[in-house]
Amino acid sequence: MRTFDPHKKRLTRIACAEHVVPYLRAEVEALGHDIQEQDKVSVAIGATLPEALNLTLHLRTAQQVYWLLDRSRVPSQTALGKWASTIAWEDLIPNDAYLTISSNIDHHSVTNTMYPNLLLKDVIVDRIKQKTGQRPDSGSDRSGVVIHLVWKNDRAWIYLNVNGQRLSDRNYRKLPHHAPMSETLAAAVLMGMQYDGTQALINPMCGSGTLAIEAALMMAGRAPGLLRNDASALHTELDIDDDYLEMRREARKSKPKLRDPLPIIATDHDPEAINAAQRNAKTAGVDHLIEFEVCDFRDTPIPELAPHESGHVILNPEYGLRLGETEELQQTYRNIGFFFKDQCRGYTAHVFTGSKPLSTHIRLRASNKLPFNNANIPCRLLTYEMHAGPPPQSQPNTQASPK
Ligand SMILES: C[S@@+](CC[C@H](N)C(=O)[O-])C[C@H]1O[C@@H](n2cnc3c(N)ncnc32)[C@H](O)[C@@H]1O
Repeated sequence: MRTFDPHKKRLTRIACAEHVVPYLRAEVEALGHDIQEQDKVSVAIGATLPEALNLTLHLRTAQQVYWLLDRSRVPSQTALGKWASTIAWEDLIPNDAYLTISSNIDHHSVTNTMYPNLLLKDVIVDRIKQKTGQRPDSGSDRSGVVIHLVWKNDRAWIYLNVNGQRLSDRNYRKLPHHAPMSETLAAAVLMGMQYDGTQALINPMCGSGTLAIEAALMMAGRAPGLLRNDASALHTELDIDDDYLEMRREARKSKPKLRDPLPIIATDHDPEAINAAQRNAKTAGVDHLIEFEVCDFRDTPIPELAPHESGHVILNPEYGLRLGETEELQQTYRNIGFFFKDQCRGYTAHVFTGSKPLSTHIRLRASNKLPFNNANIPCRLLTYEMHAGPPPQSQPNTQASPK
């Protein structure tokens, strides 16, 4: 019979969105872990269960943390059932727990992942019933113990999903407003901008405030996972409660990046967006670090930077695929270019967009272009260095952008 010692290191896979691995890798290494494996959407380390749980508190760009329970050669669904029934589930999952199965399967015998998921669920609850006389409840809402199956080319891995709910659900965004960026994507975009919490951050078109709030969490040195308190690992039989209390106590000690924080300014022309952003920032505990204003993006206050200071301006305009009309948006993108040239000198300016054609209307030369995905839409983070000094004789910025 296998048992699961939570304090023994096991392979721990940390998953993220495509294009985010470099930022995730840097975060994991900064927390003192050596990367053992890396692919396009994950890195793997060796970690105890408390260490894995600690990652769910501190990582900004990770989506899931998986702690390996077992692996095997699995040529068929029958073999999957046989193997899974040898695992001592009764040592891991309480018989009154709520169980959810998720999977990532690429196997010729599987056309619908629902069947192996159901098979694995049945094997687990049957074994627990047989050993203890009671079977756990099961369903899809990830509020209890989450078990994750990966099955590729006759090789299979069964993991404990350590976090349960996705790590992008930080629990501060009670009011999402329109087309919000996921919290983990916002953190990765900030890292792609080279924002590290020590620079000013100006975020016109802030929507529900995700970029500004993630920036403020970085500036405050605050662990992004502190508002979650219901990790899947905490629902298991494994004794990690004391470790968890200690790691939360440690994580609550914010380590601000600056003694005198630089401004974070978030504006939007929609009062409802600013209302949502303010409420979300308050829930996140960083409203004191962000100045909010309802205004057109061109009226956003851009503070003068002292010679030793630096700052970023980031806009995530609509890009026509989900909201807004393309022709009006062309003018908005043109106005963004004017805004950068006329008002953002001395700053590094960025646009995050899913439309290459629209981005050409900015009419500035990007010094960097980084790929990202936003809800399966390929996007790019475009960077423009707006050198200090008086603006060149620029075209008058008279045409109103669409509101
Ligand atoms: C794609 S959303 C931004 C989403 C945001 N990143 C988030 O995570 O919630 C674009 C935002 O730009 C705002 N907007 C559009 N045109 C604007 C303008 N001319 N001035 C100011 N805000 C504008 C919209 O109200 C909307 O909230």
